[in-house]
Amino acid sequence: MIKAIKGTRDILPQESAVWNRVEEIAREILSVYGFSEIRTPVFESTELFARGVGEDTDIVAKEMYTFDDRDSRSLTLRPEGTASVVRAYLEHQVHRDPQIWKVYYLGPMFRRERPQKGRFRQFHQLGAEVLGSDHPAIEAEVIELLQLFLDRIGVGETELLVNSIGSSQCRARFSQKLQVALSERVDALCPDCRRRCRSNPLRVLDCKREPCQPAIETLPSILECLDEPCRLHFDQFLGHLKRRDIRFKVVPRLVRGLDYYSRTTFEITSPGLGAQNALVGGGRYDGLAEVLGGRPTHGFGFALGLERVILLCQQGDSPPAADRPQLFIAPLGEPAFDRASLMARDYRRQGIRCFLDFVPRSLKSALRLANKLQSGHVLIVGENELKTGAFPLKRMRDGQQIIVSQEEVVSRLGNGF
Ligand code: HAM
Repeated sequence: MIKAIKGTRDILPQESAVWNRVEEIAREILSVYGFSEIRTPVFESTELFARGVGEDTDIVAKEMYTFDDRDSRSLTLRPEGTASVVRAYLEHQVHRDPQIWKVYYLGPMFRRERPQKGRFRQFHQLGAEVLGSDHPAIEAEVIELLQLFLDRIGVGETELLVNSIGSSQCRARFSQKLQVALSERVDALCPDCRRRCRSNPLRVLDCKREPCQPAIETLPSILECLDEPCRLHFDQFLGHLKRRDIRFKVVPRLVRGLDYYSRTTFEITSPGLGAQNALVGGGRYDGLAEVLGGRPTHGFGFALGLERVILLCQQGDSPPAADRPQLFIAPLGEPAFDRASLMARDYRRQGIRCFLDFVPRSLKSALRLANKLQSGHVLIVGENELKTGAFPLKRMRDGQQIIVSQEEVVSRLGNGF
Protein backbone atom coordinates (compact mmCIF):
# COMPACT_ATOMS: atom_id res chain seq x y z
CA MET A 1 0.00 0.00 0.00
CA ILE A 2 1.28 3.48 -0.83
CA LYS A 3 1.47 5.66 2.28
CA ALA A 4 1.91 9.39 2.88
CA ILE A 5 5.56 10.50 2.96
CA LYS A 6 7.25 10.58 6.38
CA GLY A 7 6.69 13.95 8.04
CA THR A 8 3.54 14.71 6.01
CA ARG A 9 0.00 13.98 7.06
CA ASP A 10 -3.61 14.00 5.97
CA ILE A 11 -5.98 16.39 7.66
CA LEU A 12 -9.15 14.31 7.76
CA PRO A 13 -12.68 15.77 7.79
CA GLN A 14 -13.19 15.53 11.57
CA GLU A 15 -9.98 17.58 12.03
CA SER A 16 -10.42 19.96 9.11
CA ALA A 17 -13.41 21.48 10.89
CA VAL A 18 -11.05 22.71 13.64
CA TRP A 19 -8.62 24.01 11.00
CA ASN A 20 -11.41 25.93 9.30
CA ARG A 21 -12.52 27.48 12.57
CA VAL A 22 -8.95 28.52 13.47
CA GLU A 23 -8.36 29.96 10.00
CA GLU A 24 -11.67 31.80 10.06
CA ILE A 25 -10.85 33.46 13.39
CA ALA A 26 -7.37 34.35 12.08
CA ARG A 27 -8.77 35.99 8.95
CA GLU A 28 -11.32 37.92 10.99
CA ILE A 29 -8.77 39.30 13.47
CA LEU A 30 -6.15 40.07 10.81
CA SER A 31 -8.72 41.96 8.79
CA VAL A 32 -9.75 43.98 11.87
CA TYR A 33 -6.06 44.95 12.23
CA GLY A 34 -5.85 46.01 8.56
CA PHE A 35 -4.06 43.00 7.01
CA SER A 36 -4.97 41.63 3.55
CA GLU A 37 -4.19 38.18 2.25
CA ILE A 38 -1.27 37.45 -0.08
CA ARG A 39 -0.75 34.11 -1.85
CA THR A 40 2.77 33.53 -3.10
CA PRO A 41 4.04 30.47 -5.03
CA VAL A 42 4.90 27.30 -3.14
CA PHE A 43 8.25 27.09 -4.94
CA GLU A 44 10.73 29.85 -5.63
CA SER A 45 14.28 30.13 -6.93
CA THR A 46 16.69 28.58 -4.42
CA GLU A 47 18.69 31.80 -4.38
CA LEU A 48 15.79 33.64 -2.71
CA PHE A 49 16.06 31.54 0.45
CA ALA A 50 19.83 31.07 0.28
CA ARG A 51 20.29 34.85 0.29
CA GLY A 52 17.25 35.80 2.36
CA VAL A 53 17.29 33.21 5.14
CA GLY A 54 21.09 32.78 5.04
CA GLU A 55 23.48 30.06 3.78
CA ASP A 56 24.64 29.21 7.28
CA THR A 57 21.23 28.63 8.85
CA ASP A 58 19.95 25.11 9.55
CA ILE A 59 17.05 25.76 7.20
CA VAL A 60 19.22 26.50 4.17
CA ALA A 61 22.19 24.26 5.00
CA LYS A 62 20.22 21.12 5.91
CA GLU A 63 16.48 21.32 5.55
CA MET A 64 15.44 22.64 2.15
CA TYR A 65 13.69 20.58 -0.50
CA THR A 66 15.75 21.72 -3.46
CA PHE A 67 15.67 20.28 -6.96
CA ASP A 68 16.74 21.14 -10.48
CA ASP A 69 13.95 22.00 -12.85
CA ARG A 70 14.07 20.51 -16.37
CA ASP A 71 15.93 23.60 -17.57
CA SER A 72 18.52 23.06 -14.78
CA ARG A 73 17.30 26.01 -12.72
CA SER A 74 17.55 25.32 -9.00
CA LEU A 75 14.15 25.55 -7.29
CA THR A 76 13.15 25.14 -3.64
CA LEU A 77 9.85 24.35 -1.93
CA ARG A 78 9.37 27.34 0.36
CA PRO A 79 10.63 26.68 3.90
CA GLU A 80 9.07 29.94 5.16
CA GLY A 81 7.06 32.90 3.87
CA THR A 82 8.90 36.12 4.69
CA ALA A 83 11.44 36.01 1.86
CA SER A 84 8.63 35.43 -0.67
CA VAL A 85 6.58 38.34 0.70
CA VAL A 86 9.56 40.71 0.45
CA ARG A 87 10.32 39.42 -3.06
CA ALA A 88 6.69 40.13 -4.05
CA TYR A 89 6.88 43.60 -2.47
CA LEU A 90 9.96 44.44 -4.52
CA GLU A 91 8.79 42.74 -7.71
CA HIS A 92 5.47 44.60 -7.72
CA GLN A 93 7.07 47.89 -6.65
CA VAL A 94 4.67 48.25 -3.77
CA HIS A 95 6.96 50.93 -2.28
CA ARG A 96 5.43 53.40 -4.75
CA ASP A 97 2.37 53.36 -2.51
CA PRO A 98 3.13 55.59 0.49
CA GLN A 99 1.07 53.39 2.83
CA ILE A 100 2.62 50.67 4.93
CA TRP A 101 1.92 47.21 3.48
CA LYS A 102 0.21 44.76 5.83
CA VAL A 103 -0.23 41.26 4.44
CA TYR A 104 -0.89 37.80 5.80
CA TYR A 105 -0.56 34.29 4.40
CA LEU A 106 -1.77 30.82 5.29
CA GLY A 107 -0.28 27.78 3.67
CA PRO A 108 2.14 24.85 3.59
CA MET A 109 5.89 25.20 4.20
CA PHE A 110 8.51 22.48 3.75
CA ARG A 111 11.54 21.65 5.89
CA ARG A 112 13.34 18.33 6.02
CA GLU A 113 13.57 18.12 9.80
CA ARG A 114 13.40 15.01 11.95
CA PRO A 115 9.65 14.45 12.45
CA GLN A 116 8.31 14.36 16.01
CA LYS A 117 5.30 15.64 17.95
CA GLY A 118 4.50 19.09 16.51
CA ARG A 119 7.31 18.90 13.92
CA PHE A 120 6.61 17.93 10.33
CA ARG A 121 8.28 18.09 6.95
CA GLN A 122 5.21 19.67 5.42
CA PHE A 123 3.61 21.99 7.95
CA HIS A 124 1.36 25.02 7.77
CA GLN A 125 2.06 28.57 8.82
CA LEU A 126 -0.12 31.55 9.42
CA GLY A 127 2.18 34.51 8.88
CA ALA A 128 1.79 38.29 8.78
CA GLU A 129 4.24 40.93 7.61
CA VAL A 130 4.26 44.73 7.89
CA LEU A 131 6.50 46.47 5.35
CA GLY A 132 7.41 50.13 5.45
CA SER A 133 7.41 51.02 9.16
CA ASP A 134 10.20 51.10 11.74
CA HIS A 135 7.88 52.17 14.55
CA PRO A 136 8.29 50.07 17.70
CA ALA A 137 4.53 50.40 18.35
CA ILE A 138 3.74 48.37 15.22
CA GLU A 139 5.70 45.51 16.79
CA ALA A 140 3.65 45.67 19.98
CA GLU A 141 0.45 45.95 17.94
CA VAL A 142 1.28 42.79 15.98
CA ILE A 143 1.94 40.92 19.24
CA GLU A 144 -1.34 42.30 20.63
CA LEU A 145 -3.25 40.83 17.67
CA LEU A 146 -1.46 37.51 18.09
CA GLN A 147 -2.49 37.32 21.72
CA LEU A 148 -6.08 38.15 20.85
CA PHE A 149 -6.01 35.32 18.30
CA LEU A 150 -4.43 32.79 20.67
CA ASP A 151 -6.96 33.70 23.40
CA ARG A 152 -9.89 33.49 21.01
CA ILE A 153 -9.01 30.00 19.78
CA GLY A 154 -8.26 28.83 23.32
CA VAL A 155 -4.66 27.58 23.33
CA GLY A 156 -4.30 28.13 27.08
CA GLU A 157 -1.15 29.38 28.80
CA THR A 158 1.63 30.89 26.63
CA GLU A 159 4.82 32.84 27.26
CA LEU A 160 6.14 35.78 25.22
CA LEU A 161 9.95 35.91 24.90
CA VAL A 162 11.54 39.06 23.48
CA ASN A 163 15.01 40.29 22.60
CA SER A 164 16.87 42.77 20.43
CA ILE A 165 19.75 41.70 18.22
CA GLY A 166 20.49 45.29 17.22
CA SER A 167 21.67 46.62 13.86
CA SER A 168 24.32 44.96 11.66
CA GLN A 169 26.94 47.18 13.36
CA CYS A 170 25.83 46.03 16.82
CA ARG A 171 25.95 42.44 15.65
CA ALA A 172 29.44 42.90 14.16
CA ARG A 173 30.67 44.19 17.54
CA PHE A 174 28.90 41.36 19.34
CA SER A 175 30.28 38.74 16.92
CA GLN A 176 33.84 39.82 17.74
CA LYS A 177 33.14 39.56 21.46
CA LEU A 178 31.39 36.25 20.92
CA GLN A 179 34.27 34.83 18.90
CA VAL A 180 36.68 35.54 21.74
CA ALA A 181 34.33 33.90 24.27
CA LEU A 182 33.69 30.95 21.95
CA SER A 183 37.41 30.35 21.37
CA GLU A 184 37.69 29.73 25.12
CA ARG A 185 34.84 27.17 25.03
CA VAL A 186 35.47 25.46 21.72
CA ASP A 187 36.11 22.04 23.27
CA ALA A 188 32.63 22.01 24.80
CA LEU A 189 30.87 22.61 21.46
CA CYS A 190 29.49 20.29 18.75
CA PRO A 191 31.08 20.23 15.25
CA ASP A 192 28.34 22.49 13.81
CA CYS A 193 28.93 25.11 16.53
CA ARG A 194 32.69 24.92 16.02
CA ARG A 195 32.28 25.62 12.32
CA ARG A 196 29.90 28.49 13.07
CA CYS A 197 32.32 30.04 15.59
CA ARG A 198 34.16 31.28 12.52
CA SER A 199 31.51 31.59 9.81
CA ASN A 200 28.52 32.96 11.77
CA PRO A 201 29.04 33.02 15.56
CA LEU A 202 25.53 34.32 16.27
CA ARG A 203 24.10 31.01 15.00
CA VAL A 204 25.87 29.18 17.86
CA LEU A 205 23.25 30.72 20.16
CA ASP A 206 20.49 28.79 18.29
CA CYS A 207 22.07 25.39 18.90
CA LYS A 208 19.56 23.14 20.63
CA ARG A 209 21.96 20.26 21.36
CA GLU A 210 22.05 19.41 25.04
CA PRO A 211 25.88 19.04 25.43
CA CYS A 212 26.46 22.57 24.06
CA GLN A 213 24.08 24.27 26.50
CA PRO A 214 26.37 24.80 29.53
CA ALA A 215 28.94 26.61 27.36
CA ILE A 216 26.30 28.66 25.53
CA GLU A 217 24.71 29.79 28.78
CA THR A 218 27.92 31.55 29.85
CA LEU A 219 28.36 33.53 26.60
CA PRO A 220 28.08 37.34 26.66
CA SER A 221 24.69 38.98 26.05
CA ILE A 222 23.96 40.84 22.83
CA LEU A 223 22.04 43.46 24.83
CA GLU A 224 25.41 44.76 26.08
CA CYS A 225 26.43 45.56 22.50
CA LEU A 226 23.37 47.58 21.41
CA ASP A 227 24.11 51.11 20.23
CA GLU A 228 22.01 54.02 21.46
CA PRO A 229 19.34 54.03 18.69
CA CYS A 230 18.84 50.25 18.99
CA ARG A 231 18.67 50.39 22.79
CA LEU A 232 16.09 53.20 22.55
CA HIS A 233 14.05 51.24 20.00
CA PHE A 234 14.04 48.17 22.26
CA ASP A 235 13.05 50.23 25.33
CA GLN A 236 10.23 51.85 23.39
CA PHE A 237 9.02 48.46 22.16
CA LEU A 238 8.96 47.14 25.75
CA GLY A 239 7.12 50.32 26.81
CA HIS A 240 4.43 49.71 24.15
CA LEU A 241 4.02 46.12 25.40
CA LYS A 242 3.66 47.30 29.00
CA ARG A 243 1.11 49.93 28.00
CA ARG A 244 -0.96 47.11 26.51
CA ASP A 245 -0.58 44.97 29.65
CA ILE A 246 1.26 42.33 27.63
CA ARG A 247 3.57 40.28 29.82
CA PHE A 248 6.98 39.31 28.44
CA LYS A 249 10.35 37.91 29.38
CA VAL A 250 13.60 39.34 27.92
CA VAL A 251 15.78 36.46 26.69
CA PRO A 252 19.16 37.75 25.38
CA ARG A 253 19.87 34.37 23.72
CA LEU A 254 16.85 34.68 21.45
CA VAL A 255 18.61 35.44 18.14
CA ARG A 256 16.23 33.25 16.04
CA GLY A 257 17.42 30.74 13.46
CA LEU A 258 17.15 32.94 10.37
CA ASP A 259 19.78 35.47 9.28
CA TYR A 260 17.49 38.30 8.21
CA TYR A 261 16.57 39.63 11.64
CA SER A 262 17.66 42.96 13.07
CA ARG A 263 16.60 44.68 16.29
CA THR A 264 13.43 43.14 17.79
CA THR A 265 13.02 39.36 17.84
CA PHE A 266 10.33 37.38 19.67
CA GLU A 267 8.81 33.97 20.20
CA ILE A 268 5.63 32.74 21.84
CA THR A 269 5.97 29.36 23.50
CA SER A 270 3.51 26.99 25.13
CA PRO A 271 4.24 24.62 28.02
CA GLY A 272 1.61 22.26 26.56
CA LEU A 273 3.74 21.35 23.54
CA GLY A 274 6.76 19.50 24.90
CA ALA A 275 10.11 19.78 23.06
CA GLN A 276 8.72 21.69 20.07
CA ASN A 277 7.29 24.42 22.26
CA ALA A 278 7.55 27.41 19.87
CA LEU A 279 4.11 28.41 18.66
CA VAL A 280 5.13 31.67 17.01
CA GLY A 281 8.41 33.18 15.86
CA GLY A 282 9.01 36.61 14.46
CA GLY A 283 10.85 39.88 14.47
CA ARG A 284 12.14 42.84 12.54
CA TYR A 285 14.06 42.38 9.28
CA ASP A 286 15.02 45.84 8.07
CA GLY A 287 17.95 44.60 5.92
CA LEU A 288 16.17 41.80 4.03
CA ALA A 289 14.92 43.83 1.05
CA GLU A 290 18.47 45.05 0.34
CA VAL A 291 19.90 41.55 0.62
CA LEU A 292 17.39 40.57 -2.06
CA GLY A 293 18.58 43.41 -4.31
CA GLY A 294 15.85 45.94 -3.48
CA ARG A 295 15.73 49.36 -1.87
CA PRO A 296 16.06 49.60 1.93
CA THR A 297 12.68 48.68 3.44
CA HIS A 298 11.62 48.26 7.04
CA GLY A 299 9.89 44.99 7.85
CA PHE A 300 8.39 43.24 10.84
CA GLY A 301 6.31 40.09 11.10
CA PHE A 302 5.67 36.66 12.52
CA ALA A 303 4.74 33.13 11.55
CA LEU A 304 2.76 30.72 13.65
CA GLY A 305 2.76 26.92 13.27
CA LEU A 306 -0.84 25.89 12.68
CA GLU A 307 -0.27 22.20 13.55
CA ARG A 308 1.09 23.27 16.94
CA VAL A 309 -1.75 25.69 17.63
CA ILE A 310 -4.35 23.11 16.62
CA LEU A 311 -2.77 20.50 18.90
CA LEU A 312 -3.57 22.86 21.77
CA CYS A 313 -7.13 23.75 20.77
CA GLN A 314 -10.07 21.99 22.35
CA GLN A 315 -11.11 19.32 19.87
CA GLY A 316 -14.61 17.98 20.53
CA ASP A 317 -15.77 14.61 19.14
CA SER A 318 -18.98 15.85 17.61
CA PRO A 319 -19.00 17.47 14.18
CA PRO A 320 -19.24 21.28 14.31
CA ALA A 321 -22.66 22.74 13.55
CA ALA A 322 -21.55 23.87 10.09
CA ASP A 323 -20.81 20.26 9.07
CA ARG A 324 -24.06 18.70 10.36
CA PRO A 325 -26.92 18.16 7.89
CA GLN A 326 -29.96 20.34 8.46
CA LEU A 327 -32.17 17.90 6.59
CA PHE A 328 -31.75 14.15 6.21
CA ILE A 329 -33.91 12.90 3.31
CA ALA A 330 -34.97 9.28 3.79
CA PRO A 331 -36.32 7.82 0.54
CA LEU A 332 -38.28 4.62 0.99
CA GLY A 333 -37.85 2.56 -2.22
CA GLU A 334 -36.31 3.08 -5.67
CA PRO A 335 -38.94 5.32 -7.39
CA ALA A 336 -39.04 7.49 -4.27
CA PHE A 337 -35.26 7.82 -4.42
CA ASP A 338 -35.40 9.39 -7.90
CA ARG A 339 -37.90 12.03 -6.75
CA ALA A 340 -36.03 12.55 -3.47
CA SER A 341 -32.83 13.33 -5.47
CA LEU A 342 -34.62 16.19 -7.22
CA MET A 343 -36.09 17.43 -3.93
CA ALA A 344 -32.56 17.44 -2.45
CA ARG A 345 -31.31 19.43 -5.46
CA ASP A 346 -34.03 22.05 -4.95
CA TYR A 347 -33.42 22.38 -1.19
CA ARG A 348 -29.65 22.63 -1.72
CA ARG A 349 -30.20 25.39 -4.26
CA GLN A 350 -31.95 27.24 -1.43
CA GLY A 351 -28.93 26.74 0.82
CA ILE A 352 -30.17 23.83 2.94
CA ARG A 353 -27.45 21.31 3.97
CA CYS A 354 -29.11 18.08 2.83
CA PHE A 355 -27.99 14.52 3.35
CA LEU A 356 -29.59 12.23 0.77
CA ASP A 357 -29.43 8.61 1.82
CA PHE A 358 -28.13 6.49 -1.09
CA VAL A 359 -28.38 3.15 0.69
CA PRO A 360 -31.76 1.39 0.60
CA ARG A 361 -32.75 0.81 4.24
CA SER A 362 -35.69 0.67 6.60
CA LEU A 363 -37.10 3.83 8.14
CA LYS A 364 -35.83 2.72 11.55
CA SER A 365 -32.26 2.34 10.30
CA ALA A 366 -32.48 5.67 8.39
CA LEU A 367 -33.51 7.44 11.61
CA ARG A 368 -30.62 5.81 13.45
CA LEU A 369 -28.17 7.13 10.84
CA ALA A 370 -29.75 10.62 10.90
CA ASN A 371 -29.27 10.62 14.65
CA LYS A 372 -25.63 9.61 14.32
CA LEU A 373 -24.99 12.40 11.80
CA GLN A 374 -26.70 14.82 14.20
CA SER A 375 -29.08 15.95 11.49
CA GLY A 376 -31.58 18.61 12.58
CA HIS A 377 -34.56 17.11 10.75
CA VAL A 378 -35.59 14.06 8.73
CA LEU A 379 -37.93 14.20 5.75
CA ILE A 380 -39.60 10.90 4.89
CA VAL A 381 -40.21 10.38 1.17
CA GLY A 382 -42.17 7.17 0.38
CA GLU A 383 -44.52 6.12 -2.43
CA ASN A 384 -47.59 7.23 -0.48
CA GLU A 385 -46.14 10.61 0.41
CA LEU A 386 -45.33 11.24 -3.26
CA LYS A 387 -48.91 10.38 -4.26
CA THR A 388 -50.51 12.64 -1.64
CA GLY A 389 -47.84 15.38 -1.64
CA ALA A 390 -47.82 15.28 2.20
CA PHE A 391 -44.48 14.45 3.80
CA PRO A 392 -43.65 13.71 7.46
CA LEU A 393 -40.96 16.11 8.71
CA LYS A 394 -39.43 14.94 11.99
CA ARG A 395 -37.52 17.25 14.36
CA MET A 396 -34.74 15.11 15.78
CA ARG A 397 -34.18 17.16 18.92
CA ASP A 398 -37.52 16.10 20.46
CA GLY A 399 -38.99 13.62 17.95
CA GLN A 400 -41.91 15.92 17.12
CA GLN A 401 -43.37 15.35 13.66
CA ILE A 402 -45.55 17.46 11.36
CA ILE A 403 -46.91 16.90 7.85
CA VAL A 404 -45.72 19.38 5.22
CA SER A 405 -45.81 19.90 1.46
CA GLN A 406 -42.61 19.73 -0.60
CA GLU A 407 -42.50 23.54 -0.81
CA GLU A 408 -43.17 24.12 2.88
CA VAL A 409 -40.03 22.29 4.05
CA VAL A 410 -37.61 25.22 3.69
CA SER A 411 -39.83 27.72 5.49
CA ARG A 412 -40.50 25.22 8.30
CA LEU A 413 -36.76 24.69 8.79
CA GLY A 414 -36.28 28.45 8.71
CA ASN A 415 -38.85 29.16 11.44
CA GLY A 416 -37.31 26.72 13.84
CA PHE A 417 -39.49 23.68 13.50
P1 HAM B 1 10.23 30.09 12.27
O1 HAM B 1 10.53 30.31 13.70
O2 HAM B 1 11.20 29.32 11.47
O3 HAM B 1 10.02 31.54 11.65
O4 HAM B 1 8.82 29.38 12.16
C1 HAM B 1 7.67 29.95 12.76
C2 HAM B 1 6.80 28.87 13.39
O5 HAM B 1 6.51 27.84 12.43
C3 HAM B 1 7.47 28.11 14.53
O6 HAM B 1 7.34 28.83 15.74
C4 HAM B 1 6.64 26.83 14.56
O7 HAM B 1 5.43 27.03 15.25
C5 HAM B 1 6.34 26.60 13.09
N1 HAM B 1 7.25 25.59 12.53
C6 HAM B 1 8.51 25.76 12.08
N2 HAM B 1 9.02 24.60 11.64
C7 HAM B 1 8.06 23.66 11.81
C8 HAM B 1 7.97 22.25 11.55
N3 HAM B 1 8.97 21.57 10.99
N4 HAM B 1 6.83 21.60 11.87
C9 HAM B 1 5.79 22.28 12.43
N5 HAM B 1 5.81 23.60 12.69
C10 HAM B 1 6.93 24.30 12.39
C11 HAM B 1 9.71 31.77 10.34
O8 HAM B 1 9.35 30.92 9.56
C12 HAM B 1 9.76 33.24 9.98
N6 HAM B 1 9.42 33.38 8.55
C13 HAM B 1 8.81 34.04 10.85
C14 HAM B 1 8.76 35.48 10.52
C15 HAM B 1 7.83 36.10 9.78
N7 HAM B 1 9.62 36.40 10.91
C16 HAM B 1 9.26 37.58 10.44
N8 HAM B 1 8.19 37.41 9.71
